[in-house]
Amino acid sequence: MGVVTSDVDLSAARFAQGIPFETFAELRRSAPVYWYEPDRYWVVTSYELVRSINRDATVFSNTQGTTGAALRQEEGDEPLGVRTILTMDPPQHTVYRKMAARSFSRSAVRSWEPLIRRTAKELLSGFAERGGGDWGTEVAAPFPFRVMAELMGIPREHEEEVLKRVETQVIGDPVKGWSAEKAQQAVAEADEYAGWLLEEHRKHPRGGDLIDHLMEARIDGKPLTEAELRAWVNLYIGAGGETTKYLIAHGLLCLLENPEARRAVQEGCNLDPVVEEMLRYTTPVMHHSRWAMETVEVNGQVIEAGQRVTLWMISANRDESVFADPDRFDITRAPNHHDTFGPTGPHYCLGAGLARLEGKVFFEEARPYLDRMEIAGDIVRGTSNIFNVLVASPVAVR
Ligand code: HEM
Repeated sequence: MGVVTSDVDLSAARFAQGIPFETFAELRRSAPVYWYEPDRYWVVTSYELVRSINRDATVFSNTQGTTGAALRQEEGDEPLGVRTILTMDPPQHTVYRKMAARSFSRSAVRSWEPLIRRTAKELLSGFAERGGGDWGTEVAAPFPFRVMAELMGIPREHEEEVLKRVETQVIGDPVKGWSAEKAQQAVAEADEYAGWLLEEHRKHPRGGDLIDHLMEARIDGKPLTEAELRAWVNLYIGAGGETTKYLIAHGLLCLLENPEARRAVQEGCNLDPVVEEMLRYTTPVMHHSRWAMETVEVNGQVIEAGQRVTLWMISANRDESVFADPDRFDITRAPNHHDTFGPTGPHYCLGAGLARLEGKVFFEEARPYLDRMEIAGDIVRGTSNIFNVLVASPVAVR
């Protein structure tokens, strides 16, 4: 076993002070599979091992929860009342994933571009007219949410309430951290809200939106149960918003802090590699979990059946054996096979195509504003070691 000389603190509170990149570098060097006693889980930090464990769904299971509230319940609780693909393993996962993949096909995502562009334009121009404000809450959070809301028929007047509920479930209070009691209450409210949305769709069919697809879907000839439908609605709301939000929030900061990259974007460079580098550099979902189904040895460590294994994409994405000068934000980086959407494996992000398009269209629309924008106060990080949360991101538009 390698020797780790510094204190390893991977608590949510530590991340509020800044991401412990030096700790990750040391772990990659000397103990890439490390038992973290405070939370009693394995911490995997190297690119190679994060990838290989993530791929091996026969040994490493998703069924005890991967991110967010589910895995913080008491031991022995059913992690989610009803499973969605996030908490299924193959072969069950494969069947449901195929059902959902239809909604996120390349052509479907391409057809959403006008909606994405309109949403970006509206939020950016409003922000500029106000002379700026808090970038995270006023632009980055509503942008992906409004796209998903439009694809699911969520009325605009419910935006604030739904956004708050998602945050309470997965992050908790961004400053004080996560609370089981509040999260459970938010889960129950979200479940009720999803029931209402489904009823609305039945009364007023919208013809082919994400919820219609779920209602039309058949698994072995049978429709999803009402509880399954509600769980899927909430999966889409949470996964589609709470993630891309941090890509947009941190993505702008990357440009404002790197004048060369900002200039290149302003001058019209291809945004695909820029967004890829934002995804690598900012890693909105910093880690997710797997659960060992049998006792296995990985890199000289014995992982026992039933133990939790956390895969730290935020560390894999800075692995110096894969990415040259990994701490540098480099929009010319090629290749850039980051692990931000979960490395290759059955659970690779279903919304990756949508998130990439959202990033690209958003920063295309942001181009005309970039030279007038500046960071206008302290950037404050949130208390989460799962999501790369910002509590305050003041940006002025001159
Ligand atoms: C899965 C990250 C955007 C829907 C995942 C996973 C990650 C991830 C890391 C794998 C979880 C695991 O293996 O346990 C991200 C990031 C995004 C993003 C960083 C934005 C920058 C989206 C969007 C949607 C979405 C826009 C649209 C609804 C999903 C779904 C899954 C998933 C449904 C579960 C897939 C499965 O288990 O088969 N995402 N995501 N994501 N994502 Fe995303």
